[in-house]
Amino acid sequence: MSKVCINIAWPYANGKIHLGHVAGSLLPPDIFSRYNRLLRNEVLMVGGSDQHGTPITVTAEKQKTTPEAIAERYHELNKKAIEDLNIEYSLYNKTHCDTHYEVVKKMFLKLLDEGYLYKKETNQYFCDECNRFLPDRYVEGICPSCSAVNVRSDQCDTCGTTFEPGDIKSPVCIQCGKTPRIKGTEHFFLKLSAFGDRLKEFMEDKDYWRSNVKTFTYNWLNEGLQDRAITRDMSWGVPVPLEGWDGKVIYVWFDAVIGYLSASVEYSKMVGKPDLWKEYWLDPEVKHYYFIGKDNIPFHSIIWPAMLMGAGDYNLPYDIPANEYLMFDGGKLSKSRGGAIDVLSVLKKYDADLVRYYLSANMPDTHDSEFSWEDFTIKINNELVAVLGNYYHRCLSFTHKNFGSIPESATDEESKEATDKIASVFDRYNEYLSDCEFKKALKTMMELAHFGNKYFDTSKPWALIKTDKEACGRVMNTNLRIVKALTVMAWPFLPKSSEKIWSYMGLDGSIEKCGYEGMTEKLPVGAVMSEPVPVYKKVEFEEENKPANRKKAAEPEITGPFADFRKLNLKAGTILDVKDHPDADKLYVMSVSVGEDSPRQIVAGLKAFYSKEDMIGRRVLVVSNLKPAKLRGIDSFGMLLAADDEELGGNTVLLLTPSSEVPDGTGFYSGLEPSSSRLDYKEFLKVPMKVSSVRDGKLAIGFDGTEIPDGCPSPVIVVADGKDAILLSDGKGTFATVDKEISDGAGVR
Ligand code: MF3
Ligand code: ZN
Repeated sequence: MSKVCINIAWPYANGKIHLGHVAGSLLPPDIFSRYNRLLRNEVLMVGGSDQHGTPITVTAEKQKTTPEAIAERYHELNKKAIEDLNIEYSLYNKTHCDTHYEVVKKMFLKLLDEGYLYKKETNQYFCDECNRFLPDRYVEGICPSCSAVNVRSDQCDTCGTTFEPGDIKSPVCIQCGKTPRIKGTEHFFLKLSAFGDRLKEFMEDKDYWRSNVKTFTYNWLNEGLQDRAITRDMSWGVPVPLEGWDGKVIYVWFDAVIGYLSASVEYSKMVGKPDLWKEYWLDPEVKHYYFIGKDNIPFHSIIWPAMLMGAGDYNLPYDIPANEYLMFDGGKLSKSRGGAIDVLSVLKKYDADLVRYYLSANMPDTHDSEFSWEDFTIKINNELVAVLGNYYHRCLSFTHKNFGSIPESATDEESKEATDKIASVFDRYNEYLSDCEFKKALKTMMELAHFGNKYFDTSKPWALIKTDKEACGRVMNTNLRIVKALTVMAWPFLPKSSEKIWSYMGLDGSIEKCGYEGMTEKLPVGAVMSEPVPVYKKVEFEEENKPANRKKAAEPEITGPFADFRKLNLKAGTILDVKDHPDADKLYVMSVSVGEDSPRQIVAGLKAFYSKEDMIGRRVLVVSNLKPAKLRGIDSFGMLLAADDEELGGNTVLLLTPSSEVPDGTGFYSGLEPSSSRLDYKEFLKVPMKVSSVRDGKLAIGFDGTEIPDGCPSPVIVVADGKDAILLSDGKGTFATVDKEISDGAGVR
């Protein structure tokens, strides 16, 4: 018996966790922990919600609430989702808590004391328009290594490169869209450069690491380690524990990785053994595993080990089995992609074990894997139900019906083939799991289920029962031994359903108590069985999940105002140039880019509300299929949408704008197919569009049933009939919004 420490990457508490998180970093450690528990190892499994940093503050600003409210809301939701998936942490902690603050502070001061932290005047992005420093996610630009667009200023999600201020190309402030400048400010740096040799030495015996993790780590080491700023100019986070550092906090990554240690300390307090964590963190015999997604590699293979080395004699990572990405329609599965793939929504429809099965069978462990509901249906129906579930049910129902209890054992000779098969499957399964090769381990376990079905078929118990009931009983005893071995080997993957099968067999204790050791012990002859119910049922492939239908089905039925809305062909655009109308005081003549057929000349009465400088470069939404019109003698080929509170007694007009960077020409159809015909201005006026702020996850103007997706800005523009509202969006997480206050309910024209 030995101890194992399982550390799990901390999802940001700025949105609901989705199947990508589960397949990438949350499910593998639970399988691994259960595997270790069946081996009779003691497991400490920690992680929690990452509640600091710009991911949280940016979301809070969008939703017009406090970082604390966002961090708590999603922590609770995600904790519940994890519990409902039966992922059993020792403690699912959060970084916004006293113990964490204390441990971070201690580690910071210790590293400072040891000379691994130093102060330096440094360059940060600063936005003159917003009058503030712009850390990390407040700046976006183009990745200098892979040219991905809209990457954050601290790390590229596409290629994993991490950046310092000034690294990304064409930086823009996400608040106002202006180009920030670089301004001096004082920060603490971690002297990573001092750890190069020790890290190289640390890597010497890590041949067994996954190749993606090794490659990434060696690339960093070979390029030479750069010292890194570990504080930021913002107020949400762990304060710098020194005098005179008000307004600056510790960088979220520096604080989050310390969470592994602080959660272990917190857990020890919780169970009344305050020194327990030391047994896991200071005894060099204890292996530390880190389950993460590939974008987290350098923080776990370089920065965190360096911090641990600098701070004392803590255990370093033994293995970092980083997973690749789960892809959806060819893109990384994320909040804005793939519709309702957040865990709680999925669990409303499907048992946790079905989700666990599919994500294990399709795990992105060595390369990206593709998620689809169609494949989900196929794997559940053809493998889980047809092979494993079928075998379980045949064995249990036949024995229950004909014997009612566990029948006499076969002789060793009679059951030799089955005994050998169980042993040989277990050997390979065990080897795979000890190497964190989950997909292969599951496949190997399923081999035993295939064998069981064949064994059942060839021994024909349904015929044997008529001629030799005792011989039939011995065959069924052997079948039940295979079933028992399957429940134990399946338990790390499919805990609840395996436990059900175990209880139908009338076995004592639990799978966890039995362990792999007890897996092949003889069955208790005479134990009374209970009437089994199939534990896995076929799932229907829902039409609405077919790629072609997915978007439409997710929206309300198209009638009335929504049908009118479909006539609009709304596109994102950029105002390129603005001139005065020669013959009208209130009109501008603009040149607007809207993707194809650009630039277009558009005439609009905006002079009273916007100066030319305010307009040029502004992102707008354009009705692109209006019949061309002449305004005071000048042709206009479209219209810019603007919110107008005149009917509410005001006189504000605000141009609508996309809530995030999307290319010109991006359609804003809210998942509906637009019609391509030309539109009369009169028809346009029939479309009821309104402004609404979003409060507590609801539209301020009513329509309580409207789902507000993560990342929805406030205010947002809706198309509303009497009963329903749909959010005006590109269908991929970018919404129509305005950049200033205007009354709720203001119309759009
Ligand atoms: N919150 C980070 C992410 O979602 C992961 C942090 S892992 C930690 O990418 F260990 F550093 F907390
Ligand atoms: Zn990149």
